[in-house]
Amino acid sequence: MSTVANNDKIPNNVDLASDKKLQRALEAWQPKFIEWWKEMGPEGFQADDVYLRTAVSVDSDGWAQYDFVKMPDYRWGIFLADRVQDRKIGFGDYMGQDAWQEIPGEFRNVLRRLVVTQGDTEPASVEQQRLLGQTCPSMYDLRNLFQVNVEEGRHLWAMVYLLQSYFGRDGREEAEALLERRSGNPDKPRILGAFNEPCAHWLSFFCFTYFTDRDGKYQLLALAESGFDPLARTTRFMLTEEAHHMFVGETGLGRVIERTLALMKQNGNEDARAEGGIDLPLIQKYINFWYSVSLDLFGGEISSNAANYFASSLKGRAKEEKYEDHVVLTGTMGIDVPVVEGGLLKELKREDVPLRNAMNEILRDEYIADSQRGLDKWNKQIEKAGFSFRLSLPSRRFHRAGGIYAGLHFDPAGNALDKESWEAKRYQWVPSPDDETWVKSLMSKPIYDPKGMANWIAAPARGIKGQPVDFEYVKH
Ligand SMILES: [Fe+2]
Ligand SMILES: [Fe+2]
Repeated sequence: MSTVANNDKIPNNVDLASDKKLQRALEAWQPKFIEWWKEMGPEGFQADDVYLRTAVSVDSDGWAQYDFVKMPDYRWGIFLADRVQDRKIGFGDYMGQDAWQEIPGEFRNVLRRLVVTQGDTEPASVEQQRLLGQTCPSMYDLRNLFQVNVEEGRHLWAMVYLLQSYFGRDGREEAEALLERRSGNPDKPRILGAFNEPCAHWLSFFCFTYFTDRDGKYQLLALAESGFDPLARTTRFMLTEEAHHMFVGETGLGRVIERTLALMKQNGNEDARAEGGIDLPLIQKYINFWYSVSLDLFGGEISSNAANYFASSLKGRAKEEKYEDHVVLTGTMGIDVPVVEGGLLKELKREDVPLRNAMNEILRDEYIADSQRGLDKWNKQIEKAGFSFRLSLPSRRFHRAGGIYAGLHFDPAGNALDKESWEAKRYQWVPSPDDETWVKSLMSKPIYDPKGMANWIAAPARGIKGQPVDFEYVKH
């Protein structure tokens, strides 16, 4: 078991005190991080006491502590899952070798790119969500938002620790740049598309935490297999926190649907909007949007980068141990590749893609199956309430901005459309500017009374860490 230094300036279990140079570098970065947090973190709540969990160790039965804390005073620490004795690399060309404690020189640039890309998503999501507190549906939800935010901040710390410890001067520069890019800013955008999309209200927030944080889960699972041991250990511990973010999304959407169904029943018809609820077809549009932009995060369907990551034993598949072949020099995956003529889709042609080049698609498949679980659950809720509407995930070809389907148009069932039909119909499938305005109007007033709950969402089944639902989670 690692020793935890929780009284140091930067709480950690990596014996930071023994590496003065690294400690100084991180302590120099810390005030810049706090400055970023105050500028780009939750707006209007920095002086409030919030009931938050803080990671204090990596001990599986007591890794976190719950208490009131002002967010800028949150103890963002560096925690790596304990080292596995004699860990061997579990996949790729270096399979069976001792896991690397230092970065092999030839992989330095690739690895830096992986760490920076992951790291960039963490502050990006905090920026996307910074105004949501001002329209919160309850104190319980407000607290959950802030919990997600501070933990994304800690995930940034996790990646910055790797950059500062293993990448020298380049790493220090990247760590600075992570605080300089801004979500949605055309001059200095965040690296990945979904992390530049506005997350302007709570329906988007719940979809984001359900779909986009789940992409995070799969990226972390793939990196948790890495032959570079510090990356594997860091991401393994990040997954512990990530689970709560998806819980917020899953239960949040479940509660919105529960409330909608109650209003539909009360009305005796399907018009939840008339009673100030969010109708199911509109929820479907937000699912379509956030799911499709999250699918893009997995990268191209046929990817030599992905093949390289796998070959170099840097990024594996989620839960590599469940596969039989970890070297994957044989085998193919069928992928429907668009054949385009004169800018128009002629046909989809099934191609057998060597598995290493299909690694993104393999990870995306796992993600899709995992995403479907929530929908199955919500559909049972809807069925039980006696309504025939069903939620579904659109085709993986729908509304894509990256990969082989980008630039083409498909309906949610995956049928090809020409540009005109797409333009004419797109707002039947993804939220229109009017939909955005309408949802925002529904959420124009925050609920700061601990006993209150917005009309468009049901109360949660239970509170946080044994506290009642109407506990004053944020002292605002
Ligand atoms: Fe994260
Ligand atoms: Fe997350």
